[in-house]
Amino acid sequence: MQGVTVVDHPLVQHKLTIMRDKETSTASFRRLLREISLLLCYEVTRDLELTTRTIETPLTGMEAPTLEGKKLVFASVLRAGNGLLDGMLDLVPAARVAHVGLYRDHDTLEAIEYFFKAPGDLENRLVIVVDPMLATANSAVAAVEKLKSRGATNLRFLCLLAAPEGIERFRAAHPDVPVFTASIDERLNEKGYILPGLGDAGDRMYGTK
Ligand code: PRP
Ligand code: URA
Repeated sequence: MQGVTVVDHPLVQHKLTIMRDKETSTASFRRLLREISLLLCYEVTRDLELTTRTIETPLTGMEAPTLEGKKLVFASVLRAGNGLLDGMLDLVPAARVAHVGLYRDHDTLEAIEYFFKAPGDLENRLVIVVDPMLATANSAVAAVEKLKSRGATNLRFLCLLAAPEGIERFRAAHPDVPVFTASIDERLNEKGYILPGLGDAGDRMYGTK
């Protein structure tokens, strides 16, 4: 599918299976999400531009590769986005962070915003939006709209699971934003949950109901 990358690395798929299992504990779920986020971060940053800088090794001088441009921004869609964010910051500790607080109204499935904080100069940075679940895409579409309204022009969306319906809606709303996911599942159920899915990502991460 155009603009959509499925990260089919065996370690990602193995860990995802354990996360889907309803017997997996909160502690294990959280640890696995953090581990998977390292592998997903590797893929979503694979084509970042490099430049060089002059350094001295203990033996000689060299022109050594280094990331070009301004620091990345990771935009976490609260709450569950923080499960991906933590691992990504392990890999890219200098990244800037935006928080987009959204929850799904359980009846309408609309995304309701309750918090937003982001670096002031989004227009000059690659913004990677992270949320484990792309279901109806209401949350993802709203998060990207908000970031664009604050100046972001170069964005990517990273999730763990996506429903085909969510991908279609997201790509229609934001065709300029590539999607990275570990799996495209079968469909949404009548309550807007991804099938087979893994349940409510935030609840499984934090042990809430
Ligand atoms: C979950 C998930 C996404 C959203 C996806 O969040 O983390 O943000 O649902 O569903 P959508 O694509 O249909 O919008 P939720 O609203 O449950 O909030 P939480 O992270 O605080 O639990
Ligand atoms: N949000 C979740 O956490 N899980 C789903 O299956 C759908 C939306």
